[in-house]
Amino acid sequence: MNKKIALFALLTLTTSAVYAEDIGKYQEEARAVAMPFLKQLGAANKKAVSEGGPESAVKICKDIAPQMAGDISRQTGWKLTRVSLKVRNPLLGTPDAWEQKALLEFEARAAKGEKADTMEVAEIVQEPAGKSFRFIKAIALQPGCVACHGSAEQISDNVKARLSEEYPHDMATGYRVDQIRGAVSIKRPM
Ligand code: HEC
Repeated sequence: MNKKIALFALLTLTTSAVYAEDIGKYQEEARAVAMPFLKQLGAANKKAVSEGGPESAVKICKDIAPQMAGDISRQTGWKLTRVSLKVRNPLLGTPDAWEQKALLEFEARAAKGEKADTMEVAEIVQEPAGKSFRFIKAIALQPGCVACHGSAEQISDNVKARLSEEYPHDMATGYRVDQIRGAVSIKRPM
């Protein structure tokens, strides 16, 4: 084989091997941030619903979820957000192009019968603003979510009133348990 080609092939192999290793490591780190975030949020939600009813929990979701995400972002230096194809809060939840592509891919995988719990994408991307590691993990709807994201019969009149007051452009209802409600997205500059 031509020496130059061999060297080139070796170099390419080495770079992609390093990338693969980085991605694996970053993916684990991102997962280790995303999972506790979702767990804590679920627990805070459950507590608020049981203590004050879903009406007061609307406030929890409104205030606490972005606050928790903001705290994590400040602590880690990574941007953490929740995104969806059908958002309740368009200001915080609207996906960018990369996130939208991943969310559409999740939907396609779900349509083939795959479970949302294990769906994630990790990638190193080059964007105009610079290179970053990106991670996105699907969030499945749980029984505790239907009081605010379920069908019209599952959402009480009080909650409906609160939601229409706070979120006049709400698209995030009509979900069934196990459907993909959205995703948690992490962006880490490199
Ligand atoms: C008490 C009502 C309530 C419950 C219960 C609830 N949510 Fe929400 N959810 C909201 C509100 C309000 C927002 C908008 C938050 C904001 O303003 O950023 C929201 C936003 C979201 C978003 C961000 C994207 C968007 O649409 O704006 C995701 C993802 C989400 N919820 C998932 C869940 C999941 C999963 C559960 C169950 C584990 C759940 N929610 C339970 C009220 C609720």
